Amino acid sequence: MQAFLYYFTSLLLATGVLCIYNPYRLPNVIRPKHYDLRILTHLNGRDQLHFEGRVKIDFQVQQPTNNITLHAKNLTIDDSQITLSAHNGLKTNIIKTELNKEKEFYIMHVAGELPESEQYELMIPFKAQLSENDTGYYWSSYNDSFTEKTHYLAATQFSPTFGRTAFPCFDEPHLRATFRVTLGYHRNYTGLSNTPVRNCEAHETLENYIWCEHEPLLPTSTYLVAYSVHNLSSVPSPPSDTIHNVRFRSWMQPKVVGESEFCVNFAPKTLSYLEQLFEYPFPLSKVDQLAMPTHKFSAMENWGLTTFKQSHFVHNDTEELQQAKESKAQTVAHEYAHQWFGNLVALNWWNDLWLKEGPSTYFAYLTLDALMPDWGSSQRLIGNDLAKFFQDDMINNSIAISRQVQDSKSVLEQFSPYVYKKGSLTMRMLHLLLGDEVFFLAIRNYLKRHAYGSVTQSELFGDMQQAADLKDALSPDIQLSTVMDSWTLQGGYPLVHVVRDYERGSVQLNQSLFLLTNKSKEQSESCWWIPLTFVIQQNANFNETQPQFWLKCPRAQQTQQLLKKPKSDEWIMLNPQVNSIYRVNYDERNWQLIIQTLNSSEHSNDIHVLNRAQLMDDLMALAWTNQQSYDLALSMLEYLPREQELLPWNTILNLLNNHGELLRGDQSSIFRAFMQKLVSPLYARCPKVNSVAARTKSSPLIALYRLAYSQACRYQLDDCIDQALSLGQFTEQIEEVPINFRDIMSCASIEHGIQEQFQSMLQRFKNSTIESRKTAWAKELGCSRNFSQLQEFLDYLLQSTDKTTKTYYIVVVNSALQRQNVALQTADHVLQHAKILNDKFSSREIKSLLLTIIGNSHSQLDELKLRQQLKGLDKFEKHLGAALHIRNINLNWLAQRSVNFIAALSKYI
Ligand SMILES: *[C@@H]1O[C@H](CO)[C@@H](O)[C@H](O)[C@H]1NC(C)=O
Ligand SMILES: *[C@@H]1O[C@H](CO)[C@@H](O)[C@H](O)[C@H]1NC(C)=O
Ligand SMILES: *[C@@H]1O[C@H](CO)[C@@H](O)[C@H](O)[C@H]1NC(C)=O
Ligand SMILES: *[C@@H]1O[C@H](CO)[C@@H](O)[C@H](O)[C@H]1NC(C)=O
Ligand SMILES: *[C@@H]1O[C@H](CO)[C@@H](O)[C@H](O)[C@H]1NC(C)=O
Ligand SMILES: *[C@@H]1O[C@H](CO)[C@@H](O)[C@H](O)[C@H]1NC(C)=O
Ligand SMILES: *[C@@H]1O[C@H](CO)[C@@H](O)[C@H](O)[C@H]1NC(C)=O
Ligand SMILES: *[C@@H]1O[C@H](CO)[C@@H](O)[C@H](O)[C@H]1NC(C)=O
Ligand SMILES: [Zn+2]
Repeated sequence: MQAFLYYFTSLLLATGVLCIYNPYRLPNVIRPKHYDLRILTHLNGRDQLHFEGRVKIDFQVQQPTNNITLHAKNLTIDDSQITLSAHNGLKTNIIKTELNKEKEFYIMHVAGELPESEQYELMIPFKAQLSENDTGYYWSSYNDSFTEKTHYLAATQFSPTFGRTAFPCFDEPHLRATFRVTLGYHRNYTGLSNTPVRNCEAHETLENYIWCEHEPLLPTSTYLVAYSVHNLSSVPSPPSDTIHNVRFRSWMQPKVVGESEFCVNFAPKTLSYLEQLFEYPFPLSKVDQLAMPTHKFSAMENWGLTTFKQSHFVHNDTEELQQAKESKAQTVAHEYAHQWFGNLVALNWWNDLWLKEGPSTYFAYLTLDALMPDWGSSQRLIGNDLAKFFQDDMINNSIAISRQVQDSKSVLEQFSPYVYKKGSLTMRMLHLLLGDEVFFLAIRNYLKRHAYGSVTQSELFGDMQQAADLKDALSPDIQLSTVMDSWTLQGGYPLVHVVRDYERGSVQLNQSLFLLTNKSKEQSESCWWIPLTFVIQQNANFNETQPQFWLKCPRAQQTQQLLKKPKSDEWIMLNPQVNSIYRVNYDERNWQLIIQTLNSSEHSNDIHVLNRAQLMDDLMALAWTNQQSYDLALSMLEYLPREQELLPWNTILNLLNNHGELLRGDQSSIFRAFMQKLVSPLYARCPKVNSVAARTKSSPLIALYRLAYSQACRYQLDDCIDQALSLGQFTEQIEEVPINFRDIMSCASIEHGIQEQFQSMLQRFKNSTIESRKTAWAKELGCSRNFSQLQEFLDYLLQSTDKTTKTYYIVVVNSALQRQNVALQTADHVLQHAKILNDKFSSREIKSLLLTIIGNSHSQLDELKLRQQLKGLDKFEKHLGAALHIRNINLNWLAQRSVNFIAALSKYI
């Protein structure tokens, strides 16, 4: 996602240079074996939050060296106290120490040379303040709701490179070592680490302080080590059905205990499900789940001590959306899938981050389907991931999911939604390509073979190949690692062009990178190994996803006789279930045949739902780039009134909304009229909002109705607005709307309603301390069409001295930008306050704001002035180029394609 700078990664593929010297890596001369870590934590009020400790590291010298280089950052180290002793007890002198701030190295020069194979014990004392920014060893706090007393607590967030701010260590994922953690703290607190406490004893001098030693931890990457000192309440889970009867406890502040039920119960079920799926026992004896008031991410998979942001852990059905619950369940399943992917089998280096995030995301989807079959999650999640992927990657800035990363900053940036989603789609591709049996055989072999080791992507592909060979699942000329490298070592995706010979029953195929912009010479030559599976209309079977042929790389035009000859009046379709991530263009006659089937009431369901969504997605993208006409694309939408499933609706409405956001004036009115007509039959299926809850418990239906309601109100269907206005009149009434629809009704009534309603909601926002409520209200207030009202709210948020209040600014702004009413003024507000935002918000948040604000803006833009205005604001400057690039793409479309689009729409209104 942080594209641009890294575009050159595709060159790596071309030249085959995969190992680049990385000056930020530790010299590969010392191998840590064991850490003995002792840490005393002080939580004595806001100005006394600190820790001190010492680490003893047993290591082996791999190559003679005259220095010991490891990671340390922001730690105070008294180097006169460091000791280094050899196996035989002899001490070696440290003659000099130095800090390399840029590389975050702490270097100890020794007298003479440490000889190869010798073992040493290095002892380093250190101390530091507990971090304020939720990284490393950090503090957090909560207020007791009765006594209003503030309680402080401490916990770790080491991933990816913050372990070094908590203790000196060899902080690279492949340097696994065993750990023994001993925590010191006041008796009033509880101490947790990856393993259970073995025994406690009184502190030698501090009264009421204890030292508690934890059992040793299996060889682990440093980023997975975790500990915490806190006084939270604990909630036990029912016993888990795992081989070692893993014991689960969850920890949280007392006031949210009642709302922890879902995650407390769900977590052990996911662990045992995954254990059975992977056929490899979870090796630890306990798991603690820690719900932290603040957390840098949503959750972290530390071995045996999973941490969550509290708001991602607790759930209240009467207060929060069903989709929020599903997202929490997904997070839980994701973290537990990591216990195998990442924890048991580690990464060799962060370039292959997708190798733990991809499988964890994908197996979480499978877990949801297995444990919550009524939710129908995986199909919806995969459908959304596909839509997002195809959209993001056609902008000319896609990066490879496996790419070189160097310093800490680029390691952190690697954790982008892009890597998760494409990583997951890549795992899914392997699954559907190889079939259930081979895929799981390979996964189980991989876990067994590399348990407690570390891997690169070629190990995964190698194990897949071996399983495929064993079962004859791939044709012998196919080298899986070559195939998969073409998907993971370059960004973007191909368009496969299919031209049929209707007489012979053959097809002519070629591929090219699909982009919305012109391609460079290199880009025109890029290619993929593309699995080809054709479905033929007669007896169409979308379950058979294993490849019949391959489109090879380097590219060449290919003529292919199909396995079974299609009749000239039946369609053929590539890529059943969109098993691989490419687009397809057919000759027009084949498109027409497909559209006929969609339009015939008995047969539209013959086409798999993921393909129904993808066909529209592809055709709209082909029309955008003038490779097909908008007339053809829109004629496919004629079948929608009969479409019962959420996914195709969701995909097409998102796409059309994106088009609509670019339009102004008359074009915009025509578009709105079209959308009203398109959405009406979908809306007509929905019950009245107040009766919907009583009838509807089904998660897929709730999602479908939410889509229908939000789009109907967005395009101002009378009935939707009427319902909203009549409900919105009285605060009490809107509070009684079922939670899954309340935000939509509330937004519409704010948008079309009276002044007082805004004010009373604003009062409630200011008066409340419940995070989920405040978020919902902030979003609804952002629907206002009265900018002076909105501005007052935005200013209030930015001026607040409270850390959390400011975060709602982004929520409000995103909501306002989605509507055209006050988008311009809102955009101005953002740019005028860019400096404050740059300090306060993450690079990712700023990127998304900037892409919308600049990307969709039509008005004359003084680029020079804008650059001037944003000068020195690193996060804005970094993403400005990408935003201007998208703006160019959109302006081109407006100039060249919007007229055709509108002309095609006009036929339907
Ligand atoms: C420390 O030793 C390693 C391996 O011998 C060497 O590559 C590195 O340059 C040394 N570092 C310093 C600062 O001397
Ligand atoms: C660690 O960082 C904090 C905040 O950036 C700073 O105040 C403190 O002096 C630093 N400590 C050390 C030892 O570098
Ligand atoms: C967090 O604070 C630590 C020092 O306490 C600092 O080293 C680190 O760079 C900060 N990280 C971020 C993301 O601000
Ligand atoms: C707790 O209360 C104190 C004092 O009233 C306040 O300053 C602080 O922001 C509150 N903290 C939280 C996490 O609500
Ligand atoms: C520990 O708990 C006791 C009893 O609840 C209380 O009186 C005391 O102030 C607490 N001490 C600390 C340091 O939290
Ligand atoms: C959920 O929220 C409602 C309304 O705030 C509250 O009355 C209820 O007690 C909460 N449920 C739980 C389990 O805490
Ligand atoms: C395809 O698989 C689905 C789900 O496993 C099953 O319900 C369906 O009957 C299968 N269809 C065919 C044609 O085999
Ligand atoms: C704010 O909340 C308090 C306590 O919940 C309530 O008594 C008061 O009426 C509320 N004020 C407004 C303006 O809603
Ligand atoms: Zn993850």
